[in-house]
Amino acid sequence: MGYSREDYAGKPVIAILNTWNDLSACHSHFRVRAEEVKRGIWQAGGFPIELPSISLSEVFMKPTTMLYRNLLAMEAEEQLRSYPADGVVLMGGCDKTTPGLLMGAISMNLPAIFLPAGAMLRGDWCGRILGSGTDVWAYWADLRAGKISECEWRGIENGIARSAGTCMTMGTAATMMSAAEALGFSLPGASSIPAVDSRHSQMATLVGRRAVDMVWEDLKPSDIVSPESLDNAITTVLSLSGSTNAVIHLIAMAKRAGIDLKIDRFDELSSEIPVVANMRPAGEYLMEDFFYAGGLRALLQEILPLLNTECITVNGKTLGENIEGTEVFNREVIHTLEKPCFASGGLVILRGNLAPNGAVMKPVAAEPSLHKHSGKALVFDSYDEMQEAIDDPELDVDADSVIVLRNAGPKGGPGMPEWGQLPIPKKLLKQGVRDMLRISDARMSGTSYGACVLHVSPESFVGGPLALLKTGDMVKLDVENRSIDMMVDDLELEKRKSELSQPSPKFSRGYGRLYSEHIMQADEGCDFDFLQGDGDVPIPEPEIH
Ligand code: FES
Repeated sequence: MGYSREDYAGKPVIAILNTWNDLSACHSHFRVRAEEVKRGIWQAGGFPIELPSISLSEVFMKPTTMLYRNLLAMEAEEQLRSYPADGVVLMGGCDKTTPGLLMGAISMNLPAIFLPAGAMLRGDWCGRILGSGTDVWAYWADLRAGKISECEWRGIENGIARSAGTCMTMGTAATMMSAAEALGFSLPGASSIPAVDSRHSQMATLVGRRAVDMVWEDLKPSDIVSPESLDNAITTVLSLSGSTNAVIHLIAMAKRAGIDLKIDRFDELSSEIPVVANMRPAGEYLMEDFFYAGGLRALLQEILPLLNTECITVNGKTLGENIEGTEVFNREVIHTLEKPCFASGGLVILRGNLAPNGAVMKPVAAEPSLHKHSGKALVFDSYDEMQEAIDDPELDVDADSVIVLRNAGPKGGPGMPEWGQLPIPKKLLKQGVRDMLRISDARMSGTSYGACVLHVSPESFVGGPLALLKTGDMVKLDVENRSIDMMVDDLELEKRKSELSQPSPKFSRGYGRLYSEHIMQADEGCDFDFLQGDGDVPIPEPEIH
């Protein structure tokens, strides 16, 4: 490879796990950023080795990137175990790459620092500012209702993603990058820098430099991940009104560190944590605005009394030290604790006879009148069945109906696709209906909105109660009381249960089979059962050549 012994002897070897590929638009700047990271590693006296890792492109992977998050986590862990790395820079940002890389790094427990991809610039179309996903769903509904033309739709497509970087609403990518920083895995402020800002390049070099020092200091994920730092991450997600997907990913990350984070912790904190970030889809602004308003450090300063400020972070300082002296530059974007955007309810956990192990909802992104709602279920067994029927003018549905999709969970989907923002029937769109109660065992894109009850657990494919619901049954949601129930008596439910037949597995071989046999439910983080915990795995002995 052309290196002399002096290039590497006695130096920390820093792996760079780079999730760049030709189909990962969110990471299209990572080729250049990897070189900027290497610059920092050389400067600090380290030796960089770039290890390409599977990229999980939300837009192009079928059926869903969630099927492959654990594959990335396994790849990250095993690359770090098998190659001679002393520390690692994790390069991710598109939804599943952040949790996937962090899960692998936490399990391997080498000094690890996360380089967030950063969000793309604001979208623009005909003088309007567009937000990833959020505006797609809104204008897609308008297109289906005949309110905009195909030509206008193409203009929206062209204007909505106009630079490298992740989705720039507070979707899963921005949520998880922010959570990673609050957890302590990124340099202060890193998660808010837009992908194409020159300060993002500077930050990449700083990350490289810092990775070398972390090896000398032996600062590892086990020093960073704790129940307190996880609470910081959850609190941050709630104050941002972040993505519902964060629930699954943070639970999975915690369990990798041997911490049994329960789904109810989100609800306990949710009732105390106000939403202070005015960000789409729940609010108005985008990541570029958030950065100019002071970014995550400014938001953390605002919610300081709610944080565990003594938690250590990758720069060797505490979270409290990292946010000292920051200020908010735009109060429209980052509100005060005294005058928040919403007093609580960033995310809530619901339970009831439809979801005994829990379901997730983001009430602040739903029509308030639907927070307490009863209606007749309209049940679909598959996404295809729903798609075929949903725009039928004869469909027996009204604005009070509750649309239900099942067989969309971790095993049933498979991979728990982001189908949870179920489409509103065309005939109701034409009447001006823009939100309805929708329930599924699927996930929902973090950029989506609406009265969507998600992650119903256990999922219907494994015989969860969602499998027992029939079209016409009454369903009742009560956000205040955190309940989701079907109004069917227990005797009838027992009868229906005895008539259920076990669906056949979706895969007979390959990765899909491994996935189906070992995937856990949504409330447990959807990790593989054999990857949880912090038990030792032996480091392999090298072969002698
Ligand atoms: Fe990558 Fe949205 S597609 S973050």
